[in-house]
Amino acid sequence: MQGPTLADQVTRLYDLIGGFHATHLLDLGHELGLWERVTAEPGITHERLAAALGTDPFYTDVFCRTAFAFSLLDRAGEGWRMAPHFDEILGTPASTFYLGANPWVHLVLGRDYARYPELFRSGGTYAYQEHSDEFMSAVAEGLQALPRVFIEMVLPKLPALRARLEAGGRVLDVGCGGGIALVELARRFPNVRCVGVDVEPRSIDAARALIRARGLDERCEARLAAAEGLAEPDAYDVVTSFLVVHELPVAAKEAAFAAIARALAPGGSFLIFDEAYPETDAGLRTMPSRFGALAQWFELVWGNRVNTRTELVRLAEGAGLRIADETVFSRFTILVANKP
Ligand SMILES: C[S@@+](CC[C@H](N)C(=O)[O-])C[C@H]1O[C@@H](n2cnc3c(N)ncnc32)[C@H](O)[C@@H]1O
Repeated sequence: MQGPTLADQVTRLYDLIGGFHATHLLDLGHELGLWERVTAEPGITHERLAAALGTDPFYTDVFCRTAFAFSLLDRAGEGWRMAPHFDEILGTPASTFYLGANPWVHLVLGRDYARYPELFRSGGTYAYQEHSDEFMSAVAEGLQALPRVFIEMVLPKLPALRARLEAGGRVLDVGCGGGIALVELARRFPNVRCVGVDVEPRSIDAARALIRARGLDERCEARLAAAEGLAEPDAYDVVTSFLVVHELPVAAKEAAFAAIARALAPGGSFLIFDEAYPETDAGLRTMPSRFGALAQWFELVWGNRVNTRTELVRLAEGAGLRIADETVFSRFTILVANKP
């Protein structure tokens, strides 16, 4: 089989660069309210859209045609509608899969690239916790959908864990960030009590405010504490972690798993919901598994290490836990490790 020509590779390069511009277009559509408007009024012309959004008609026309080029909009008569499923993904904030705020997270974290040349030379880091307030709130907003996706799409595939949560009990969310998993778990499972811990103070403040706003003070609590510093033996029936294991400091990862294992009651479950680094070259080149490698790339200078599934299993077993259940969802690896 013949390889690609030089011209093919030039085209490929520009296609890759197109992703950068598409990210800006996705974010602008969110900022202007364009995705929600087209979702609400399929077939809307660019003139009507411009009038509704208060935008320039020609700019709006170019936006729509560019979004069509990226397969985000489809033509509908003289106007436009969302391409299949993008009405949910970009145009419906209440939908489980809403990702409208996600491009903004990448634009904010993309500012770190200015530091890459220096950090590549020094081998230094620019830790997650050193980032701006805007970064923290962008991450919290960008990850809003994750617990809902977990509860609605993943938990049905983990019946033992779901039964445990339905029965009630004590839940610890490690690396709780802005607290969205705490309040969503408490809402969906009225018999659980949830504690969240995180090392990032602004996130704990945000989690406390969210708990208060949802009226869940009686059943939810957020504490400023490190996973590796947990000192409550046998205290929790379920420990959850959403996109946290790859953020734990490399030197503290084994200690964090050991502390989580200690904090679990006998028979309790530790949920790992995280990116996993592809184990094969085919995985590196295929979406969605490639996104694990991409996360390692854009979080590299934070000092993060995205583990492979094999490494995650080894970490859990090294702490005396046994893998009881396992599934995948899109790019995420999901393991349930039980304490004997
Ligand atoms: C990508 S954020 C995910 C936040 C949250 N779980 C969510 O899904 O929105 C990872 C979180 O892990 C926290 N973290 C990192 N190291 C930690 C540690 N040693 N102990 C507790 N939390 C930690 C970070 O501060 C950050 O809030």
